[in-house]
Amino acid sequence: MTLQLRVYVPPHPLIKHWLAVARDAGTPSVLFRSAMTELGRWLTYEAAREWLPTLDSEVQSPMGSCAATFINPEVPIAVVPILRAGLGLLEGAQTLLPLASIYHLGLVRNEETLQPMCYLNKLPNRFDPQTRVLITDPMLATGGSIMAAMSELTQRGIDPALTRIVCVVAAPPALQKLSAEYPGLIIYAATIDEGVNNQGFIVPGLGDAGDRIFGT
Ligand code: PRP
Repeated sequence: MTLQLRVYVPPHPLIKHWLAVARDAGTPSVLFRSAMTELGRWLTYEAAREWLPTLDSEVQSPMGSCAATFINPEVPIAVVPILRAGLGLLEGAQTLLPLASIYHLGLVRNEETLQPMCYLNKLPNRFDPQTRVLITDPMLATGGSIMAAMSELTQRGIDPALTRIVCVVAAPPALQKLSAEYPGLIIYAATIDEGVNNQGFIVPGLGDAGDRIFGT
């Protein structure tokens, strides 16, 4: 079977609504943050399907015994927010994955070269190979940042097939790079936009999500 990158854009009214709020240049920072939280929540909900490991068991209800399915507590779950903007999606993701370990990765693009520079790396030296990883970053633009993040993760034993990326806007250059290197990867996005301008901004996109989240 040939593996292919998959990008899911869930056709959900709440995802459409919060994307519209986030895109609107008139949305103030406080509401933009809410939009990111909600998008983080609903996109993580979608991403958790067939990704969160479950365990079949049995419970005693007040009326008798029955089959039951739990989240498997033995399998490590990790969330990797790409700072700064990935923090905006983290809160919503954490409400659904309360036991996940959070490993911050600080990447910033050089505004001229658009190359990412890593200024914080809280990843462990080695992950359990069974670890399910959810990466949060609202924007996949030229793809430099997400490729750097994937490289840091795979060097530490993460299986791309057990990884999910939650983003708000994905642009073709990033998707092409991910597809060439990690064909088994699955992405959940609120939308796929047309392209990236020569300053590296997604068009129509959201503007600078990091600045809008933090009112910078
Ligand atoms: C933005 C965004 C992504 C990256 C996408 O972060 O949040 O991480 O750019 O661009 P790329 O696909 O071209 O690498 P930025 O570097 O502006 O840092 P910030 O999150 O601190 O604002």
